[in-house]
Amino acid sequence: MRKSVFALVLALTAGAALAVEPPKDTRTFPSKIGPVAFAHTKHLAAGAKCENCHHGPEQKKCSTCHGKEAKDKVVKFYDAVHSKTLDHACLTCHTKTVAAGRKAPVECKACHVK
Ligand code: HEC
Ligand code: HEC
Ligand code: HEC
Ligand code: HEC
Repeated sequence: MRKSVFALVLALTAGAALAVEPPKDTRTFPSKIGPVAFAHTKHLAAGAKCENCHHGPEQKKCSTCHGKEAKDKVVKFYDAVHSKTLDHACLTCHTKTVAAGRKAPVECKACHVK
């Protein structure tokens, strides 16, 4: 009995170590036409799921893999954000959200706030 409880505790703590917390801070992406403030908190409150943006087994910064240039068929960061048709692209969801009659920024100035 003791042994199995110990094994259970071990299993639970191993699981906890794998779970990743979404960042609580607002991240700011700079650009010439004004910075973009991105907040996980607002998206999660609006019902977004990790896998709507992150794909693959780990949640890392998009820029880890999506750079300034498209490499080996991996879209560049700009397109990963601004495409309105690609899965996991920010504007794909925003466009669908607006089409469904709810609020989300689609105009340049709604995200790039000077
Ligand atoms: C609406 C899109 C979106 C959703 C939903 C989302 N993320 Fe993210 N996440 C991002 C973006 C964009 C970044 C990159 C931020 C940056 O470059 O600083 C990021 C970065 C991260 C990072 C890396 C932070 C760092 O500084 O290395 C972690 C961890 C993470 N997200 C976890 C999560 C988890 C867990 C969930 C679900 C509970 C989640 N995210 C949901 C878009 C999202
Ligand atoms: C570990 C590397 C890696 C990270 C981190 C990553 N991507 Fe990707 N992404 C890829 C690769 C590789 C492809 C192309 C292959 C594919 O279609 O899966 C891709 C494809 C895409 C595409 C094209 C459409 C699709 O889904 O196939 C979009 C959009 C995209 N990623 C958005 C994002 C966003 C947004 C983030 C951050 C929240 C992110 N990616 C983080 C590697 C990554
Ligand atoms: C959903 C929010 C959002 C909307 C809407 C949006 N952007 Fe962006 N934009 C971003 C994010 C996030 C980045 C940072 C990613 C990057 O550096 O490529 C960015 C980066 C940029 C950059 C800098 C790219 C670089 O390499 O420095 C330019 C230029 C830009 N956007 C132009 C536009 C224009 C023009 C529009 C309207 C047609 C627009 N954006 C609409 C979120 C948005
Ligand atoms: C799954 C759908 C979905 C995805 C994917 C998504 N968003 Fe959003 N986003 C929303 C919704 C819905 C809102 C409106 C939230 C609200 O008004 O409370 C929003 C709001 C925003 C806002 C305005 C927040 C504010 O201050 O009011 C910014 C900026 C933004 N998103 C940037 C991004 C960026 C950058 C990405 C990609 C890395 C992204 N979003 C991906 C659904 C999404």
